[in-house]
Amino acid sequence: MSNPEVAKWKDISWEQAVEEVKGVVGGEVLTAEEMMSYGVKTEWFPHGPAKDHGGDHGGRVFGLGIMLTKVLEAGANRAKLDLNINIEAVGWALVLHDIQANVQENGRKYRDHGLAAAEWIGENWQEVGMSEEIVELVMDLCQWHISDDKDVPEDKWTMELLILRNADSLDRVRFENGRRPEHALDESFLTFEVAKAWLVPIARKLFKLTELGEGREYDSVEEGFKAVVDAGVEMGLIRA
Ligand SMILES: [Fe+2]
Ligand SMILES: [Fe+2]
Repeated sequence: MSNPEVAKWKDISWEQAVEEVKGVVGGEVLTAEEMMSYGVKTEWFPHGPAKDHGGDHGGRVFGLGIMLTKVLEAGANRAKLDLNINIEAVGWALVLHDIQANVQENGRKYRDHGLAAAEWIGENWQEVGMSEEIVELVMDLCQWHISDDKDVPEDKWTMELLILRNADSLDRVRFENGRRPEHALDESFLTFEVAKAWLVPIARKLFKLTELGEGREYDSVEEGFKAVVDAGVEMGLIRA
Protein backbone atom coordinates (compact mmCIF):
# COMPACT_ATOMS: atom_id res chain seq x y z
CA MET A 1 0.00 0.00 0.00
CA SER A 2 1.48 3.35 -0.90
CA ASN A 3 1.93 5.99 1.74
CA PRO A 4 0.61 9.39 0.57
CA GLU A 5 3.10 11.22 2.83
CA VAL A 6 6.01 9.52 1.09
CA ALA A 7 4.56 10.32 -2.30
CA LYS A 8 4.40 13.97 -1.30
CA TRP A 9 7.99 14.02 0.00
CA LYS A 10 9.26 12.46 -3.17
CA ASP A 11 8.12 15.49 -5.10
CA ILE A 12 10.47 17.87 -3.29
CA SER A 13 13.26 19.57 -5.21
CA TRP A 14 16.91 18.76 -4.60
CA GLU A 15 17.33 22.23 -3.03
CA GLN A 16 14.58 21.50 -0.49
CA ALA A 17 16.06 18.06 0.17
CA VAL A 18 19.49 19.61 0.86
CA GLU A 19 17.89 22.06 3.32
CA GLU A 20 16.13 19.17 5.11
CA VAL A 21 19.38 17.18 5.39
CA LYS A 22 21.35 20.19 6.62
CA GLY A 23 18.64 21.02 9.13
CA VAL A 24 18.85 17.53 10.61
CA VAL A 25 22.65 17.19 10.67
CA GLY A 26 23.23 20.82 11.68
CA GLY A 27 25.12 22.13 8.63
CA GLU A 28 27.14 20.61 5.83
CA VAL A 29 27.44 16.82 5.87
CA LEU A 30 31.25 16.80 5.71
CA THR A 31 34.26 18.82 4.58
CA ALA A 32 36.05 18.48 1.26
CA GLU A 33 39.19 17.53 3.19
CA GLU A 34 37.39 14.67 5.00
CA MET A 35 36.05 13.34 1.71
CA MET A 36 39.45 13.61 -0.01
CA SER A 37 40.98 11.49 2.78
CA TYR A 38 38.93 8.60 1.32
CA GLY A 39 40.00 9.45 -2.24
CA VAL A 40 40.39 6.41 -4.49
CA LYS A 41 43.47 5.95 -6.66
CA THR A 42 43.76 4.60 -10.18
CA GLU A 43 46.31 1.98 -9.07
CA TRP A 44 43.73 0.46 -6.70
CA PHE A 45 41.79 -0.73 -9.76
CA PRO A 46 44.15 -3.48 -10.94
CA HIS A 47 41.91 -4.33 -13.89
CA GLY A 48 41.01 -0.72 -14.61
CA PRO A 49 37.68 0.82 -13.58
CA ALA A 50 34.63 -0.86 -15.10
CA LYS A 51 32.30 1.31 -17.12
CA ASP A 52 29.86 3.08 -14.75
CA HIS A 53 31.94 1.95 -11.71
CA GLY A 54 34.82 4.43 -11.64
CA GLY A 55 35.87 7.13 -9.18
CA ASP A 56 32.75 9.20 -9.82
CA HIS A 57 30.47 6.27 -8.85
CA GLY A 58 32.61 5.65 -5.73
CA GLY A 59 32.46 9.36 -4.88
CA ARG A 60 28.70 9.64 -5.30
CA VAL A 61 28.06 6.46 -3.29
CA PHE A 62 30.41 7.79 -0.58
CA GLY A 63 28.62 11.15 -0.39
CA LEU A 64 25.17 9.56 -0.31
CA GLY A 65 26.21 6.92 2.22
CA ILE A 66 27.82 9.39 4.62
CA MET A 67 24.77 11.65 4.30
CA LEU A 68 22.48 8.72 5.14
CA THR A 69 24.70 7.77 8.10
CA LYS A 70 24.64 11.30 9.52
CA VAL A 71 20.87 11.67 9.12
CA LEU A 72 20.23 8.30 10.81
CA GLU A 73 22.65 9.13 13.63
CA ALA A 74 21.06 12.55 14.20
CA GLY A 75 17.62 10.95 14.53
CA ALA A 76 18.93 8.28 16.89
CA ASN A 77 20.81 10.81 19.05
CA ARG A 78 17.61 12.67 19.64
CA ALA A 79 16.13 9.47 21.07
CA LYS A 80 19.38 8.84 23.05
CA LEU A 81 20.10 5.74 20.97
CA ASP A 82 23.53 4.79 19.72
CA LEU A 83 23.43 3.09 16.32
CA ASN A 84 27.10 2.13 16.71
CA ILE A 85 27.86 2.76 13.06
CA ASN A 86 31.56 2.35 12.28
CA ILE A 87 31.94 5.37 10.06
CA GLU A 88 35.53 4.64 8.97
CA ALA A 89 34.52 1.14 7.83
CA VAL A 90 31.44 2.46 6.04
CA GLY A 91 33.54 5.16 4.38
CA TRP A 92 36.10 2.73 2.99
CA ALA A 93 33.47 0.24 1.85
CA LEU A 94 31.55 3.03 0.10
CA VAL A 95 34.57 3.99 -2.01
CA LEU A 96 36.16 0.53 -2.48
CA HIS A 97 33.18 -1.79 -3.12
CA ASP A 98 33.55 -1.75 -6.91
CA ILE A 99 37.36 -1.63 -7.32
CA GLN A 100 37.20 -5.11 -8.86
CA ALA A 101 34.03 -4.65 -10.90
CA ASN A 102 36.14 -5.11 -14.03
CA VAL A 103 38.00 -8.15 -12.72
CA GLN A 104 39.22 -10.30 -15.59
CA GLU A 105 40.41 -13.86 -15.47
CA ASN A 106 41.47 -15.63 -18.63
CA GLY A 107 40.26 -12.59 -20.54
CA ARG A 108 36.72 -12.95 -19.22
CA LYS A 109 34.72 -11.04 -16.64
CA TYR A 110 33.01 -13.64 -14.53
CA ARG A 111 34.07 -13.49 -10.89
CA ASP A 112 31.91 -12.18 -8.04
CA HIS A 113 33.26 -8.62 -7.86
CA GLY A 114 32.20 -8.20 -4.21
CA LEU A 115 34.29 -11.18 -3.16
CA ALA A 116 37.15 -10.03 -5.40
CA ALA A 117 37.10 -6.56 -3.75
CA ALA A 118 37.16 -8.19 -0.30
CA GLU A 119 40.21 -10.24 -1.28
CA TRP A 120 41.97 -7.17 -2.68
CA ILE A 121 41.34 -5.28 0.59
CA GLY A 122 42.70 -8.22 2.60
CA GLU A 123 45.98 -7.83 0.74
CA ASN A 124 46.15 -4.05 0.36
CA TRP A 125 44.51 -2.45 3.41
CA GLN A 126 47.81 -0.97 4.65
CA GLU A 127 48.49 0.70 1.32
CA VAL A 128 44.96 2.15 1.44
CA GLY A 129 45.64 3.49 4.94
CA MET A 130 42.76 1.95 6.87
CA SER A 131 42.97 0.89 10.53
CA GLU A 132 43.66 -2.80 11.10
CA GLU A 133 40.63 -3.25 13.37
CA ILE A 134 38.16 -2.39 10.61
CA VAL A 135 39.67 -4.52 7.81
CA GLU A 136 37.44 -7.53 8.42
CA LEU A 137 34.27 -5.42 8.47
CA VAL A 138 35.23 -3.56 5.28
CA MET A 139 35.90 -6.91 3.58
CA ASP A 140 32.48 -8.24 4.66
CA LEU A 141 30.72 -5.10 3.48
CA CYS A 142 32.33 -5.27 0.04
CA GLN A 143 31.72 -9.00 -0.27
CA TRP A 144 27.99 -8.72 0.44
CA HIS A 145 27.22 -5.43 -1.33
CA ILE A 146 25.77 -7.04 -4.42
CA SER A 147 24.21 -10.39 -3.35
CA ASP A 148 20.48 -10.97 -3.33
CA ASP A 149 19.01 -10.27 0.13
CA LYS A 150 18.26 -13.96 0.63
CA ASP A 151 21.91 -14.93 0.06
CA VAL A 152 23.41 -12.59 2.68
CA PRO A 153 24.19 -14.53 5.89
CA GLU A 154 22.12 -13.38 8.86
CA ASP A 155 25.17 -12.23 10.86
CA LYS A 156 26.40 -10.04 7.99
CA TRP A 157 23.32 -7.79 8.08
CA THR A 158 24.63 -4.71 9.87
CA MET A 159 23.73 -1.02 9.76
CA GLU A 160 26.92 -0.54 7.74
CA LEU A 161 25.78 -3.06 5.11
CA LEU A 162 22.32 -1.48 4.87
CA ILE A 163 23.91 1.94 4.38
CA LEU A 164 26.27 0.69 1.66
CA ARG A 165 23.50 -1.15 -0.19
CA ASN A 166 21.11 1.83 0.02
CA ALA A 167 23.76 4.30 -1.16
CA ASP A 168 24.87 2.01 -4.00
CA SER A 169 21.23 1.61 -5.07
CA LEU A 170 20.68 5.38 -5.00
CA ASP A 171 23.40 5.86 -7.63
CA ARG A 172 21.33 3.66 -9.95
CA VAL A 173 19.78 6.99 -10.94
CA ARG A 174 22.66 7.02 -13.46
CA PHE A 175 20.77 4.42 -15.50
CA GLU A 176 17.46 6.26 -15.52
CA ASN A 177 17.71 8.06 -18.81
CA GLY A 178 17.57 5.29 -21.33
CA ARG A 179 20.95 3.59 -21.02
CA ARG A 180 20.77 0.17 -19.29
CA PRO A 181 17.20 0.78 -18.00
CA GLU A 182 17.19 -2.70 -16.41
CA HIS A 183 19.64 -1.27 -13.81
CA ALA A 184 17.61 1.89 -13.04
CA LEU A 185 16.68 2.77 -9.46
CA ASP A 186 14.01 0.55 -7.99
CA GLU A 187 12.78 2.14 -4.78
CA SER A 188 12.06 -1.26 -3.29
CA PHE A 189 15.88 -1.47 -2.88
CA LEU A 190 15.75 1.48 -0.45
CA THR A 191 15.28 0.41 3.16
CA PHE A 192 15.08 3.84 4.74
CA GLU A 193 12.22 6.27 4.14
CA VAL A 194 14.70 9.14 4.33
CA ALA A 195 16.54 7.65 1.36
CA LYS A 196 13.34 7.68 -0.68
CA ALA A 197 12.24 11.11 0.48
CA TRP A 198 15.41 13.22 0.47
CA LEU A 199 18.25 11.27 -1.03
CA VAL A 200 16.61 10.39 -4.35
CA PRO A 201 16.38 14.03 -5.58
CA ILE A 202 19.89 14.66 -4.19
CA ALA A 203 21.27 11.56 -5.97
CA ARG A 204 19.72 12.69 -9.26
CA LYS A 205 21.26 16.17 -9.01
CA LEU A 206 24.65 14.79 -7.94
CA PHE A 207 24.69 12.53 -10.99
CA LYS A 208 23.60 15.34 -13.27
CA LEU A 209 26.49 17.51 -12.09
CA THR A 210 29.09 14.75 -12.47
CA GLU A 211 28.03 12.92 -15.64
CA LEU A 212 30.07 13.55 -18.74
CA GLY A 213 27.25 12.53 -21.07
CA GLU A 214 26.96 9.97 -23.86
CA GLY A 215 28.40 7.23 -21.67
CA ARG A 216 31.78 8.98 -21.50
CA GLU A 217 34.10 8.18 -18.59
CA TYR A 218 36.61 10.29 -16.63
CA ASP A 219 40.27 9.92 -17.63
CA SER A 220 41.22 8.80 -14.13
CA VAL A 221 39.39 7.65 -11.01
CA GLU A 222 40.96 10.57 -9.11
CA GLU A 223 39.37 13.03 -11.54
CA GLY A 224 35.94 11.37 -11.22
CA PHE A 225 36.12 11.37 -7.41
CA LYS A 226 37.20 15.01 -7.26
CA ALA A 227 34.31 15.99 -9.57
CA VAL A 228 31.91 14.66 -6.93
CA VAL A 229 33.60 16.68 -4.18
CA ASP A 230 33.19 19.82 -6.32
CA ALA A 231 29.53 18.98 -7.04
CA GLY A 232 28.89 18.46 -3.31
CA VAL A 233 30.37 21.87 -2.59
CA GLU A 234 28.24 23.42 -5.34
CA MET A 235 25.10 21.82 -3.87
CA GLY A 236 25.95 23.11 -0.39
CA LEU A 237 26.39 19.63 1.11
CA ILE A 238 30.18 19.70 1.46
CA ARG A 239 32.15 22.49 3.12
CA ALA A 240 34.99 23.62 0.79
FE1 LIG B 1 29.11 -3.53 -7.32
FE1 LIG C 1 28.55 0.19 -6.85
